[in-house]
Amino acid sequence: MSEPGGIASLMLPRSDELEHIPQDSANPLTAAKVELGRYLFFDPAISFDPACKAAARTFSCATCHFADAGFQAGRKQAIASGGRGHGFRREKHPMCDSTEVDVQLLRTPSIVNCAYQEVQLWSGKLGCCGPNKGTDSLWKKGSFMELNRLAMAGVETQARVALEAHGMRMDPNLVTETKYLDLFNAAFSDVTPELKYRRFSMAKAIAAYERTVLTNEAPFQKWLRGDRSALTKDQRWGAYIFFGKGGCNNCHRGPALNSMTFHALGIKDMSGNDVIPKKNAPEDIMFGRGGFTHREEDMYKFKVPQLYNLKGLKFLGHGGGLSSVEAVIRYINNAVAENSSVDQKYLSPYFRPLHLTEKEIKALTTFVEDALFDPSLHRYEPGNVPSGFCFPNADKMSREQLRCSEQ
Ligand code: HEC
Ligand code: HEC
Repeated sequence: MSEPGGIASLMLPRSDELEHIPQDSANPLTAAKVELGRYLFFDPAISFDPACKAAARTFSCATCHFADAGFQAGRKQAIASGGRGHGFRREKHPMCDSTEVDVQLLRTPSIVNCAYQEVQLWSGKLGCCGPNKGTDSLWKKGSFMELNRLAMAGVETQARVALEAHGMRMDPNLVTETKYLDLFNAAFSDVTPELKYRRFSMAKAIAAYERTVLTNEAPFQKWLRGDRSALTKDQRWGAYIFFGKGGCNNCHRGPALNSMTFHALGIKDMSGNDVIPKKNAPEDIMFGRGGFTHREEDMYKFKVPQLYNLKGLKFLGHGGGLSSVEAVIRYINNAVAENSSVDQKYLSPYFRPLHLTEKEIKALTTFVEDALFDPSLHRYEPGNVPSGFCFPNADKMSREQLRCSEQ
């Protein structure tokens, strides 16, 4: 393989080899944090203060990042507060007004392999370091970017922001009346009681858990570890194109096949009659990295996403407008921008016709869809949550769909 750094540079660690997982020195990984974080990520009992009051304590992080959708939302536009139903069947709740619905105008990215992403979100605006070094003047008071001042990595900062943005917190009763008390005490024995049960610690635990959600059982990972029968002939050919003629690894590199660089591919923003509008949406939904940095050279650029577990998802690209992996590959192969507001001068120099044959497109597609598909992501779910709630959602429709017995 022509990958610089060779095969080792593409391998994911095991999820229990905490010392081999990239982490933030301000939040060293421990098994106790990971355990607490796994519960918090799935427990709807923490969604105390949503905009739509009727939705209180019915949704969790995993409502919008669930295993069967590769820890994405599986919808063009995810709905947290103001939605009902589980997974691909989630919909707007008729009892919640459109203005109270918790939606964004960007497709929900996956949390798998997020340990390999130093700054988070499509524009990369969360996280103190890496590509965000020197952007301090943009971390305005009162904005979520202010939390970059906590000097933590993207995963930790984003978890802290998400808790606040989605109206999630601990409640004293939830701490004392459940096993959360022991879990927080075990994970944060060195933290003062004032901070121990708050978002400060919740975010660190959730981030620790997220860092362990790795697609290390995907066939490509098995192949990298030496199992030469893990990939089919077509998948091996697809890999050859990915790292060769396709030039995909100019941007998609390393264990997550992402990179902390930003590029404009002229992909459409979120649109359609089914999209719930959002007031005061930040500029980065349209301008990507440039909406955050206000630098001309960053305009319309979005982060290079990781490529595992995309099979079966119908909403790809930052706007969710590309309907499959094959559609993305055909789009990149043709290299014609679909978003007319993105002037030619902004487009990545790598975005040029690749002249792949039909057979090469199919091989590349099966490499990305099948070789990069970890079939057992359910292993990252907890068996239950300390509140005893139905999870990851607890609204009436979800409880029926998830076959939860009455709470
Ligand atoms: C509305 C459903 C929703 C809920 C609930 C939700 N998220 Fe997200 N999440 C999103 C969307 C949409 C984005 C992309 C936003 C952007 O790029 O600006 C996102 C982005 C992220 C990212 C960044 C991934 C990347 O590749 O950059 C992480 C990590 C994440 N969420 C974790 C969480 C955690 C932790 C929670 C719970 C505390 C949570 N999310 C709750 C919808 C949701
Ligand atoms: C110039 C850098 C670059 C190159 C080269 C590149 N990509 Fe990407 N890729 C990106 C960026 C940036 C995005 C997200 C763009 C957006 O949504 O606006 C993306 C998105 C994707 C997605 C959609 C993922 C998702 O979660 O929505 C897939 C699949 C993908 N690329 C596969 C490939 C393959 C296969 C190749 C090689 C043929 C390739 N890419 C080449 C930068 C690149």
